[in-house]
Amino acid sequence: MDTRPSATPRRILFVCLGNICRSPAAEAVTRALADGRDLSLDSAGTGDWHVGKPPHPPMRKAGQARGYDLSALRARQFTRADFDRFDLIVAMDADNMAEIERLRPPGNDVPVRPFTDYAPATGAQAVPDPYFTGDYAGALDLIETCARGLLARL
Ligand code: 4NP
Repeated sequence: MDTRPSATPRRILFVCLGNICRSPAAEAVTRALADGRDLSLDSAGTGDWHVGKPPHPPMRKAGQARGYDLSALRARQFTRADFDRFDLIVAMDADNMAEIERLRPPGNDVPVRPFTDYAPATGAQAVPDPYFTGDYAGALDLIETCARGLLARL
């Protein structure tokens, strides 16, 4: 298998804090909207509280209502090794960005981008965490816009 980073990011990792709300939704939505493109998508959390668990039930339910199936996903923690496994790392908020950068191995230059960079028209600087806001539909709205923007740039 050719594991060299490609100019066009093909292996994309979405990262949030718990890996049970925003990043699994970003992974599932991007996969659903990818329209047959050859992408390898995954998600992870900077925290370890929910490792091995499926996405949070209200997030699964909100996704299901729009046709996104999150049920097979399981939380895992972001690790340094992820810098060698992905061409692009996409963070849900600035805290995630900072924690990812803290773990970057010396010499590694994999791009880490805020997901909201792909939805400039929204003016959003982060994907608000529905685990705390309770607004799962609003998070999905923004995630869908960001995913479309990301896919348009690939
Ligand atoms: P997420 O939301 O980062 O979008 O998965 C969270 C879920 C759980 C916790 C934090 C954030 N938690 O602290 O348990």
